[in-house]
Amino acid sequence: MSKSREQWGSKIGFILAAAGSAVGLGNIWRFPYLVGENGGAVFIFIYLICVAVIGLPVIISEVVIGRNAQKDPVGSFKKLSNNNPFWKGVGFLGVFTGFIILSYYNVIAGWCLGYIVEAVKGSFQTITDTAQAVALFSRLSGSGSWSVPYLTIFMALTVSIVYFGVTRGIEKSSKIMMPSLIIIILILVVRGITLENSKAGILYLLKPNFANVTGRTVLVALGQAFFSLSIGMGVMITYGSYLSKENNIPSQATRIVVIDTSVSLLAGFMIFPAIFALGLKPHQGPSLLFNTSPILFNYIPGGYWFRILFFILLALAALTSTISLLEVITAYFVDEFKLNRKMIAIIGGAISLLLGIPSALSFGRWSSFQIMNLSIFNFCDYLASNICLPIGGLFITIFVGWFWGKNNALLEMRQGADRTPNWFFSVWRFLIRYVAPVLIAMVLLSSLGII
Ligand code: PHE
Repeated sequence: MSKSREQWGSKIGFILAAAGSAVGLGNIWRFPYLVGENGGAVFIFIYLICVAVIGLPVIISEVVIGRNAQKDPVGSFKKLSNNNPFWKGVGFLGVFTGFIILSYYNVIAGWCLGYIVEAVKGSFQTITDTAQAVALFSRLSGSGSWSVPYLTIFMALTVSIVYFGVTRGIEKSSKIMMPSLIIIILILVVRGITLENSKAGILYLLKPNFANVTGRTVLVALGQAFFSLSIGMGVMITYGSYLSKENNIPSQATRIVVIDTSVSLLAGFMIFPAIFALGLKPHQGPSLLFNTSPILFNYIPGGYWFRILFFILLALAALTSTISLLEVITAYFVDEFKLNRKMIAIIGGAISLLLGIPSALSFGRWSSFQIMNLSIFNFCDYLASNICLPIGGLFITIFVGWFWGKNNALLEMRQGADRTPNWFFSVWRFLIRYVAPVLIAMVLLSSLGII
């Protein structure tokens, strides 16, 4: 039955799509602002541990599940668990989480589009005082008539790519775009650390201060590891389901994790030395990137053009992530209900768009409306990244480590991985059975105040 299923054209196809999904606003927008909110170096330190002992084993598990079952997340759990309703529910949680993330992620992606236009208009050229940049951003993001149209345009872009089936084209183009984005970030890193008074910013990223670590810091770091690697909701199950048996899953997954983490660290070094040099505060929340990076371009030759290019490439990096989110939703309805792909892409996108509008407005007119002391945007982000993704991840580890027959996962993982050393499999197995589930459960319980 899996014969007719579409597969990646080449080995590189999967890597491009999976890395495209992983690298996005999570690295360049979300990571730095979380670092700024959670104490700098110490957060980075905890984050790296989460990525190594939980992120990598989970990404491997998801791909293994998908390649073995050859189905969407719900269908994969259904198939491998012999139709057990609980495990189907885990797959379903992933689809639900996909809707939520897509909705508010598009708000930020929309801001990027808006910033391309502002960059072209030259709005930042005359800004010397950082307060002006902050004021400009809060005026723009606070206005629904600015943010909602861009949000709508970005969602339309995502939908049309899934609709016309040109996903692969976009991912191939990211082979050039992603390195270009990294080069621009590197230029900004160099510029940032050579600014006067940037040293405090470098120390901020390198010298951990363990005094202020709380359970919440760890939860946020864990949530970011899931968010940034696109795991815990089935993206990698879905992408793994198009993968052929010749692919070496351990090595490809490791590569994706290394790329993703490097981009996040670079983004940190792009932002913080500059922030300290320009006299801004690290603790700014979601506006951090938009308050800082546009001004930084005023300090480099050709800044006007680099700034435009930066926001175009950032929007593109966001696009390869939103495509993957919509792809999970689409694959679910197409595989499980045999519905028309094109129709689902449109309906899924439209529902997510409607869900996203309140998030967009929560930066302005609706800012006083709070759920559990959080704005609508922050609530959606908290629910999806810090609750739903870790819960999804926890069940994935339990499923692969304990439920799905002892050796099935290992057998699948070994196919195409002849050159991977044996210790890798043993370490993976230990992490997925004992370390990852216990750690995730502890972090979740402590965040609920239970332990
Ligand atoms: N990993 C993406 C990013 O860092 C966001 C994402 C999360 C995409 C979850 C898919 C699923 O931007």
